[in-house]
Amino acid sequence: MASSLFDPRAFSGKVAFVSGAASGIGAATARQLADLGAKLVLVDRDRARLDAFVETLGSNNVLALEVDVTAIASVEEAIARGVSHFGGLDLAVNSAGIDLPRCETARYPAGDWDRTIAVNLTGVFNAVRHQIPAMLASGGGSIVNVASIMGFRGFSGQPAYTAAKHGVIGLTKAAALDHATQGIRINAVAPGFIDTPLLGHLSDEMRQAAALLHPMARVGEADEITNVILFLLSDAASFVTGACFEADGGYLAK
Ligand SMILES: NC(=O)c1ccc[n+]([C@@H]2O[C@H](COP(=O)([O-])OP(=O)(O)OC[C@H]3O[C@@H](n4cnc5c(N)ncnc54)[C@H](O)[C@@H]3O)[C@@H](O)[C@H]2O)c1
Repeated sequence: MASSLFDPRAFSGKVAFVSGAASGIGAATARQLADLGAKLVLVDRDRARLDAFVETLGSNNVLALEVDVTAIASVEEAIARGVSHFGGLDLAVNSAGIDLPRCETARYPAGDWDRTIAVNLTGVFNAVRHQIPAMLASGGGSIVNVASIMGFRGFSGQPAYTAAKHGVIGLTKAAALDHATQGIRINAVAPGFIDTPLLGHLSDEMRQAAALLHPMARVGEADEITNVILFLLSDAASFVTGACFEADGGYLAK
């Protein structure tokens, strides 16, 4: 029987994998899941930042691992270590991502294209590819991939990021179809501009301009994305799969 309302107690004791957990949306999600009693497998390529973040969590149920999501063998090993440490895998949030400098397509550096696709798209594939079997062995689960408004719209100067985020939404749909009858739900969230270190390279002027792209005339907070992620992870979303939920201050409504 489905939960009629989002029940935060349902996360207690669940095993959750979060990539990009050292910062921003991944860190906000890890913190809320820790506060709700989940057991966490946290991965990030930035070991020092991840360790500093984990110190602030005040939870003993954390396995923190240095992982570059572009390396499929490392991702597979991290998931296997999480399963053997905590006895299974129930939930996953794939948030690791990068945003390289803007450049028009005709001058876009091939290396920046390769790097962006490797982290923002292949990194998500590498994770779901190994999260799904681990969840099947655990009796089912729920995965949320962090896409973007740029998964729905083009953005000037961002050909690689835009292509990768469109790809994440396509991957989410295909994977959801493959496993829809097996107790695995796979969804995505599409944030608008969110106040995290990812936007650190924006000048104050650019940040103000970014805020005004949203009908709410502001950028979002990481916890405003986490709240949508937790809903999608939870049994309250038991009939939701292959979806991409917008959390964007109205950006895509224009
Ligand atoms: N901040 C925004 O405006 C915004 C908007 C839409 C979507 N997003 C997406 O949200 C996700 C999280 O972004 P954020 O804003 O929290 O950024 P962030 O920079 O605060 O956090 C991203 C984390 O991912 C980690 N990471 C980067 N490359 C990695 C790799 N190869 N392997 C493992 N970890 C890696 C970083 O070390 C960092 O800790 C990204 O996928 C991003 O594209 C962000």
